[in-house]
Amino acid sequence: MAIMPHDPYVLVTGGAGYIGSHTVELLLRRGYRPVVFDNFSTGHRALLLNDDWIQGDLRELESIRGALQKYPFQSVLHFASHCYVGESMDDPPKYFFDNLTQALNLLRAMLEFRIPHFVLSSTCSVYGHPQQVPIPETHPVAPTNPYGESKRMIERILEWYDRADRIRFVSLRYFNAAGAHPSGRLGELHDPEPHLIPRVLQVAAGIRPFVEIHGEDYPTADGTCIRDYVHVVDLAEAHLLALQRLQRTGQTGIFNLGTGKGYSVKEVIRAAQKITGREIPCRSGLRRPGDPSDLVADPTRAERDLDWVPRHSTLESILETAWNFLKVPRRRQEREG
Ligand SMILES: NC(=O)c1ccc[n+]([C@@H]2O[C@H](COP(=O)([O-])OP(=O)(O)OC[C@H]3O[C@@H](n4cnc5c(N)ncnc54)[C@H](O)[C@@H]3O)[C@@H](O)[C@H]2O)c1
Repeated sequence: MAIMPHDPYVLVTGGAGYIGSHTVELLLRRGYRPVVFDNFSTGHRALLLNDDWIQGDLRELESIRGALQKYPFQSVLHFASHCYVGESMDDPPKYFFDNLTQALNLLRAMLEFRIPHFVLSSTCSVYGHPQQVPIPETHPVAPTNPYGESKRMIERILEWYDRADRIRFVSLRYFNAAGAHPSGRLGELHDPEPHLIPRVLQVAAGIRPFVEIHGEDYPTADGTCIRDYVHVVDLAEAHLLALQRLQRTGQTGIFNLGTGKGYSVKEVIRAAQKITGREIPCRSGLRRPGDPSDLVADPTRAERDLDWVPRHSTLESILETAWNFLKVPRRRQEREG
């Protein structure tokens, strides 16, 4: 049985989403009382794991105030956000207005209720086009899209709140989240799905006709973009470690979450063909504006200061769990007729 943590109540904004739901699952197993706050705009009731959830919208201050007064929270994990690079290029106001309003409302309500600890879902998009790879946290930040810029702005707001002794925070800069829970119960359910691995697997499953490769003329060995894929279960573990560090030391910090190893688009497709045993037809497409050729983390700081070990983040494990998750509803559909 898990030992009851000292401050078990944790607010999880966006806990009905992909990464948030995996983190809730881990928190529950470790004896915490996570309470999900979600407007279900991109999240799913099917990903909720217990009855501690509140339907609310962070863009409304009263909504988040109401949630914070119900439980004795000491910590918040903030996943809720718009999170697509491409969409942010088409609609910057959506990303700046909503992502910032949500964070500001949440921080304001946290100060009112004297909640000191905040963990932010940040992103490698804050670095823009890297000057060196692997990318350490000390690399200059220069986002090339409104999504990354909105996350960097939230980090900067947090840095000022920290300086004023109002909030202690951990910002986790994820590289490419991927994979699914080994149980097959939780996984990625974005609609439309912007991420490579689920799209590739949807082609393998016959849900999509082909994978479009966005650019084959990058300065990489096979001409396609290289990304650092980190298993969502390892991301959940990093959130728990970040929370424990905040509760134990009250120390603010920024950490990359990646493996230090990158795979090209073509390598991912080949590995997916092997794991699924299916043909995955591809078509050549145009480069996407603002896509850097190579994004790979230097995860040394998280490994050293959080004791984080990304145990699940081999490409095989990522593809196998994501494939397993994709097949579950199909199996159910088949059973139901
Ligand atoms: N998926 C990735 O590869 C990746 C990479 C880097 C960073 N991130 C960050 O991780 C976080 C989670 O990403 P995800 O892939 O799980 O996304 P997701 O869309 O699956 O989850 C986001 C959740 O937030 C909720 N939400 C959105 N706006 C809200 C609002 N105004 N009020 C309340 N709830 C709201 C949604 O309903 C959803 O449940 C995001 O902040 C994202 O920017 C994701």
